[in-house]
Amino acid sequence: PDPAHVAPALLAWYDRHRRALPWRALPGEVADPYRVWLSEVMLQQTTVAAVRPRFEGWVARWPDFASLAAADEAEVMAAWAGLGYYARARNLVAAAKAVVADHGGAFPADEATLRTLPGLGAYTAAAVAAIAFGSRAVVVDANVERVVARLFAIGEALPGARVAIRAAADRITPDARAGDFAQAMMDLGSGICTVKTPSCLLCPLQDECLAFREGAPERLPVKAAK
Ligand code: ADE
Ligand code: SF4
Repeated sequence: PDPAHVAPALLAWYDRHRRALPWRALPGEVADPYRVWLSEVMLQQTTVAAVRPRFEGWVARWPDFASLAAADEAEVMAAWAGLGYYARARNLVAAAKAVVADHGGAFPADEATLRTLPGLGAYTAAAVAAIAFGSRAVVVDANVERVVARLFAIGEALPGARVAIRAAADRITPDARAGDFAQAMMDLGSGICTVKTPSCLLCPLQDECLAFREGAPERLPVKAAK
């Protein structure tokens, strides 16, 4: 795939097919870092459909870092009920407190400082930096991993393949609109380049895709031997 072609083709597709989600900015608007962060944490082990109503309820009750930093812990745990992995909820409150105490109530914009906050791992820091601040961060979740493995026909098995996948993702990430690019890759992975039966005929990256050219893209990425 030609890095000069991938992002423009994908972003043109995203401009036509972007899903309206409650944490996404409208085209041309700036996303709210608090909402981007909250959605990324909720989406880590939970589907978009399950997160949506919980997200709306949460931001109605705690609309910003200050209100979440002052939240009652038992109430927070009750609001998280059913989303699983409760450490995520505890980290949300701890990170909100750190934002208020150490960062003047606003998220730091750079990936490295974001990573110092409780619960912000490599994925979340990159996602927030790109989606909320427009930084050129390389955002790789399971959906993106699959799309990239197929585009570049990376046949090595996971988890070892992650090094090559990340390097390839870096090569196709554009300087401009990195947040839209990341979310477009996620949408492509969840809606088109699906695990078992990718809809290659509808894919805006078909011309760039080595796995499509070789046939049988559903073989990739190769799972770890058990
Ligand atoms: N999964 C994780 N983050 C997402 C996002 N911003 N949009 C859609 N799906 C996602
Ligand atoms: Fe995925 Fe098919 Fe698109 Fe390649 S052409 S990225 S395999 S949907």
